[in-house]
This record gives sequence, structure tokens and C-alpha cells, in this order.
Amino acid sequence: MKLLVTHIARIAGIETECRARLCGAQMGRLNCLDDAWLLADAGRIAAFGPMPVPAEIEADRTVDARGGMLFPSFCDSHTHLVYAGSREREFLDKIAGLSYEQIARRGGGILNSADLLHRTSEQQLYDEAMVRVREIAAKGTGCVEIKSGYGLTTEDELKMLRVIRRIRETAPLAVKATFLGAHAVGRAYVGRQEAYVDLVCREMVPAVAAEGLADFIDVFCDEGFFTVAQTARILEAGARYGLVPKIHANELAVSGGVQAGVAHGALSVDHLERSGAAEIEALCGTRTMPVLLPGAAFFLGMSYPPAREMIRAGLGVALASDYNPGSSPSGDMRMVVALASIRMRMTPAEAIHAATLNGAYAMGLSDDYGSITVGKVANFFLTEPMPSIEFLFYAYTTPLIRRVFLRGEEMVG
Ligand code: NIG
Ligand code: FE
Repeated sequence: MKLLVTHIARIAGIETECRARLCGAQMGRLNCLDDAWLLADAGRIAAFGPMPVPAEIEADRTVDARGGMLFPSFCDSHTHLVYAGSREREFLDKIAGLSYEQIARRGGGILNSADLLHRTSEQQLYDEAMVRVREIAAKGTGCVEIKSGYGLTTEDELKMLRVIRRIRETAPLAVKATFLGAHAVGRAYVGRQEAYVDLVCREMVPAVAAEGLADFIDVFCDEGFFTVAQTARILEAGARYGLVPKIHANELAVSGGVQAGVAHGALSVDHLERSGAAEIEALCGTRTMPVLLPGAAFFLGMSYPPAREMIRAGLGVALASDYNPGSSPSGDMRMVVALASIRMRMTPAEAIHAATLNGAYAMGLSDDYGSITVGKVANFFLTEPMPSIEFLFYAYTTPLIRRVFLRGEEMVG
């Protein structure tokens, strides 16, 4: 199937050098083409150029963009969007003044979601998650990473990961799966943290690997959750089965999680609200991508990670939604980009790269996704006519995303 899009006021996010990620000052330069057409063939970007469309270009279907802009789909490299029910009770607790840690200590938080998940069937979980998957697709996301971590028993972690596998098989988005058994200590192990770590390493990791259910392994390395030493054990257990590390680090305290991630060759270290010069230095010159989650900082009323300092130090930075019921009940990447600009002073160009190409890098997908590049998968969206690229993130609640294309096909409904 050949799809031709004509009369595009501006194509944003063109990448011709095939860079796997953008670092430092590279992030601030967004390549665009005005008054353009784009051709997709068999689900991949085949060509694009300035109007008029050359006579030799033929297509099975032509879409007139009518002066709207074309953006590469967002690549959301950190979500927990498979979960049961919701946690607005804690939302009220937070409004009343309790912190995330206080709610967790009272047995709420992640354990609350684990209880709900335990009582929910695989089919029901899949149905609930697919509502969110369709929602984020309509909001412009084309690649998504999804974590387990609300199971906290071998059986329930496998249940979550099987749901993620089914999403991967049925949704038009690219999906990566992360095993996060070390999200919290399961109820049956409260007070026996080391025994829980043993369970994760000796039983869960081999079981997950036996079914080929995960690409990555993640640990919540933070105060009140898992220590650096426990994190190292878990990542090493994962590495024996080829699971690439990712880390939740420095959300609640200066945890040493960034350094632990770097030492284990993590593809990304995520959150980093509590980080400074030492963490930035640890990341410089490594393959590890810092993934910032401003939606969580916003929802929990925390300070924001030091994006400007990271970019000034020459680091690449990615942005993700953290879509989850406890700290970020939204997968809206436009909102994430807007927050990154407003609260972390990332320019829209930097934030767009962080939410597309660098997000793809943080999932190991940047060869095929994250930019408008000939040969990459044709994942993009068209907007309403807009005065500028920045307008999409300035008018951040106006319904400006008009049509979504994944693998070169229009998403309807
Ligand atoms: O990334 N920080 C740890 N995990 C999630 C929150 C999970 C939850 O509260 O349900 C996060 O913010
Ligand atoms: Fe998270």
C-alpha cells in the first residue's frame, strides 16, 4: 500500500544523518521542510520533498494535509500502563498533604495496585490497558515501553507481562516490555526484603526469560524501595538472561541509582528529580540516556530534574510520560513536552527530540522510529493548520492532532 500525503505546511523532525540519539546542542536544531509531500510504501517512509508532487510518484491513497503540519509520532519510553482500577483515593490523600512516601509506607501506593491486579483477570487487564493504548495512540504516540511491577508475585508478574505481549501482538504501536519485579517488596515479603530480592533473581527472572516476555529489566532504586547493592544483584541476574537494564533512580532521594545504572550499562536511567553535578558527570560519555518524567514531578508536586544542566553538559535527554495510576495518570506526550518547556526550560525543539528520537533510543528503537527519515517506519501525525511548531505545545489542550498514521496506515476511531 502506497500512501501519499500532500500539502503539508511543514514536516518537523526530519533526520537525514541517521543519528541514533541527539546530544547537547544537537537537540536544539529541529530539521523541517515547508510546503511538502510525503510518500509511505509498505509501512515505511519512502520519500518526501517540496510540493508539487513529482509526476512519477504514484500512490494507492492520497491524503490532503490541508495546510496542517506533520510530526513523527512520539516515542514514550517509560510507562506502567497495564494496571487494574485506579487510585484516586491517594489523589485525595495527596491533596490533604500526604507525600508519595507516606502513602507508600501506609501500604497504599504500588501495593494497592498489586492487590487490585491480583483480583483482575488477564482478559480484563488487557481490555483496560487497551483503552489507554488507544488513547495514547490518538494523542500521537507510536512507540511505547510498558513495565510490569504491579504483580510482585511470580504468577502475577507473568500475568502482566503476558498482557503486554498481547498488546504488542494486537496494537499498531511498537511495544517494548520491561520486567519490573523490583518495583516494591510484595506483601508476603514485607520485612523480608532480601528474601524478596532472592525471589526476583532466582525465580522471577528465569520464569520471565523462559517465556521470552521482556526486553528490559528495571529496579526502583530509591529510598524506601531497593538499595544500590540489591539493584546490582537484580540487574546481574537479568543480564544472565540477556535483559538490558533500565532504572528508576533519584526520584525520592539521591539514591546512587544513576551511578548503579551506568555501571551496569543501563540503556536509560529514569526520573532523576533529585540529581545534580555528580549524576550528570556519571552519565557523560556513556550510552545511558537520562529519561525525564515531568508528568510525575507535576502530579506529585516535586522539583523537576535539571534538564538544562544536562543538555549544557552535552548529554542527550529523553522525555516520557510515566503513565501509571500513582504518580502520573496521563500518557499525553504533548502535555509532557509542554511541561518540559514550561517547567524545565527545554526549548520546544529540544523537547520534541527528547520525546521522539531520544525516546526511541531509550527503547533501542531509534534505527526504525523517532524521526522522519527515509526507510523508517511511517509513524506520524497530522495537525490542524497552526501558526508555528511551538503552537502545538503552547496551546497544549487544544485538540490540534487531527489524523494519526501508524505503519503507514491511518488509525481510525
Ligand atoms: O515511576 N516510582 C516508581 N514507580 C512509578 C509509580 C508507581 C505507582 O505509584 O504506582 C513511577 O513514578
Ligand atoms: Fe515509573
